Order: sequence, then C-alpha cells, then structure tokens
Amino acid sequence: MSRAAELPGRRGGRIIAIDGPAASGKSSTAQAVARALGYAHLDSGALYRGVTLVGVRHGGVTPGAPLDANRLLLEAERRGLALHYDGTGYGVYLAGEPADEAIRTPEVTALVSAVSALPEVRAWVNDRLRALPFAGQSVVVDGRDIGTVVFPEADLKVYLTASPRTRAERRLKQRGSKAVVAADLDRETAALAARDQADSSRAVAPLRMAADAVALDGTDLTFEEQVAEIVRLARGRVGG
Ligand code: DC
Repeated sequence: MSRAAELPGRRGGRIIAIDGPAASGKSSTAQAVARALGYAHLDSGALYRGVTLVGVRHGGVTPGAPLDANRLLLEAERRGLALHYDGTGYGVYLAGEPADEAIRTPEVTALVSAVSALPEVRAWVNDRLRALPFAGQSVVVDGRDIGTVVFPEADLKVYLTASPRTRAERRLKQRGSKAVVAADLDRETAALAARDQADSSRAVAPLRMAADAVALDGTDLTFEEQVAEIVRLARGRVGG
C-alpha cells in the first residue's frame, strides 16, 4: 500500500479528537473513552513533553534561554524519541525506554508551552501523529489542535473544558494534595491561566475550538459522566 493510501481519513479507522485547555482532564478522559470504545489512546501533549525533556537533558532548554528548534529536533531523533503502541495506547519512549514519568516533572511542564510554540517542533510532532494510527486502527487523540490542524477530518471533535478553579483543584489533587489550601489553589489557577494564555495566543496552531466541535463543559460533571457523554456522542456519530 502506498504511504498516501495509509493517511488518516483513507485508512479505515475512526478518529475522535478531544481538545481543550490544560488540566481539563483531556488525557484521562480520552484514555477512558478509548477503553470504553475499544480504540487506542494517543496523547499528543506527551510527544511535546518528550521533545521538551530531550531539550532539557541534551538540547540547551533552560528557562529564559533562546530555543533552537533544529538542535532540539536533531537531539530528539538522535535520542530515539518516539511514541510506541503498547496494546491499548501510545506511550513516549526514549532510546527504547518508557519516559512517561520523566515527561511530567514540573521542570518539563514549565517549559513545554515555549517548546510547543516552535513551528518546526509542531510540524515534526504532527508528522509523527499522523503516521501513527496503523491501517484500520481507531484512535482517541487528545491535545490542543487535533480537531483544527492534525486530524481535521476526525469523525467526532470534542472541546473539553472546565472552570479555571475546577481545573486547578483537580490538578492539585492529581499531584497528591489531600486538603487543598487556598494559597496553592490561587497559585495553580494563575499558572493554568498563564499556560492557557500562552497556548491560545501563539502564532502557530493556537488552542481554539474547531467550528464543528461539540463543546463539553465538565465543571459540574463527574469524571464518569464526562466519559459517558463522549462515549454517547461517539456512538451516535460513528456507531458501535
Ligand atoms: O496536555 P499537556 O499538558 O500534556 O500538553 C503539554 C503542552 O503541549 C501544552 O502546554 C500545550 C502543548 N500541546 C500543544 O501545543 N498541542 C497539542 N496538540 C498538545 C499539546
């Protein structure tokens, strides 16, 4: 089969795109939706985090320093940065080793918005995302520009959000805070607002809702309700 014939849209599998701001629960929701539907889960943010991790370790990425996209991508290739399918979803690997934990440190989180704003990095990531789902494979892909740029032909596009306060609270709980302190909540809300601002105002592929996406506000929904709603939408759209 020619490479072109394997491209999404012509490869037989279904695509569900879930976009939205930081900490809206996209990845965990996408994973649960994928499990419910028997699709594979593909977290595009993980690949941006992977590039950032390589940059922190080998590519001169430090706070305040100018970024060199070519050097970053050269290192990403040299260090074997890739997403591999593990039977249920795609995980980030470096030189064949899983890097799922290393890509989620506060250091990587603080730098990833700047790295993901580089057009060369976006093009590199997009090429890899588009090449991943193998022929016939159905996927739930989450990110910021999946329905607008990466897979505009997706069968269902969901724009998932929640109030900044709710997202901050969830993020703190995710990090293990038992009782959420007001000062921490304020700080986290401000950090998320800054990341939303950076992701929505960048020149290339800014975070925005696709015209044909379904908006889903999860502020007052439980995780299970949020997942069930997307599964319901997916079944209505693609059957199964
Ligand atoms: O979803 P996340 O927090 O793991 O994403 C990490 C960063 O990557 C986030 O700051 C925005 C960026 N990103 C992006 O620009 N486009 C995507 N499709 C996914 C993530």
